[in-house]
Amino acid sequence: MKYKIAIIGFGTVGQGFAEILEEKGIWLKEKYGLDFDVVAISDPIKGSVYAEEGLDLKKILSLIKETGKIDSYSEGIKDWDSIRTITDTNANVIAEASPTNIETGEPGIMHIRSALNNKKHVITTNKGPVALAYRELAKLAYENEVFFRFEGTVISGTPALNLGLETLAGIKVQEIRGILNGTTNYILTEMESGKTYEEVLREAQRLGYAEAKPDADVEGWDALAKVLILANVVMGGNLRVQDIERTGITGITLQDIQQAKSENKRYKLIGKVRKENGGIKASVSPEKLNTGDFLAQVNGVLNALTFVTDELREVTIVGPGAGRRETGFSLLSDLLNIHQLLEKSSSTIDPSRIVTC
Ligand code: HSE
Repeated sequence: MKYKIAIIGFGTVGQGFAEILEEKGIWLKEKYGLDFDVVAISDPIKGSVYAEEGLDLKKILSLIKETGKIDSYSEGIKDWDSIRTITDTNANVIAEASPTNIETGEPGIMHIRSALNNKKHVITTNKGPVALAYRELAKLAYENEVFFRFEGTVISGTPALNLGLETLAGIKVQEIRGILNGTTNYILTEMESGKTYEEVLREAQRLGYAEAKPDADVEGWDALAKVLILANVVMGGNLRVQDIERTGITGITLQDIQQAKSENKRYKLIGKVRKENGGIKASVSPEKLNTGDFLAQVNGVLNALTFVTDELREVTIVGPGAGRRETGFSLLSDLLNIHQLLEKSSSTIDPSRIVTC
């Protein structure tokens, strides 16, 4: 089967995904039998283009680099909006990479509903739809016999959801806790060397870690969205935003950080989901951890997630939780996952595909 991909939202993540597809296309076909074309891209600012036979990604990426737009691409239909791109193109996979809105989930929910109702597979990095409408969208995917995958919604391409749902299948998870936001971890780490909160926040924005509105990171909303996804997807809960206790890091002063340091402790913004009294409880709040605690040693922009389990005690994964290629890669990992399920080849490897990495 040839995958015809439409990318909805062509910001950092959509472009990172396109770069990876462009660079690795031949190798992906050789190693995994993954045969694809990107047939459409639609973005409200950068423009929209659809070419049935596939777009030349190299040209698209250089257009974006040079002009910031894609609508001067030489071929194809230029003015279709996101919904028309989802419903009227020959795309059979929709890569939804529009920005997260944790209050409404839009326009992501509308995009994903349209795709699933039109029997198109969905891969997404958009946290809003999964955090707010996971059950509805999963049901819609099931009824339409297509896949809905969203690995990048929790700590980007670092395989947190895959670990919880697939690798740890058969295990009972009592608690998941971790560092789910790179910006705040970076701020807390850098403040230990005496820099002020404002100084480090500006640095984090310059480095591209922080969300467009820093409140999403520093007030804990971004971590809350990830906690909600872990609670509802991995632990089978049915929580809403208002069920989660949330405190950000804006109340932590340089003095607090230095006081903690003198006690051999370190502040971390911890997202937590746990089984409690027959239900699921979740929270996001700063915690003062002993420096010997594993999570206290995860510094800078890194993220980490510990699964507390019945059979393996604690299993921790550490890795990047943000970034152009890191999040772009999560879309490739979803696509490969769908491909392997469709091929039913996930447990056997075609020997002709053992090729050099
Ligand atoms: N802004 C987020 C972070 C990345 O700093 O971790 C996207 O969730």
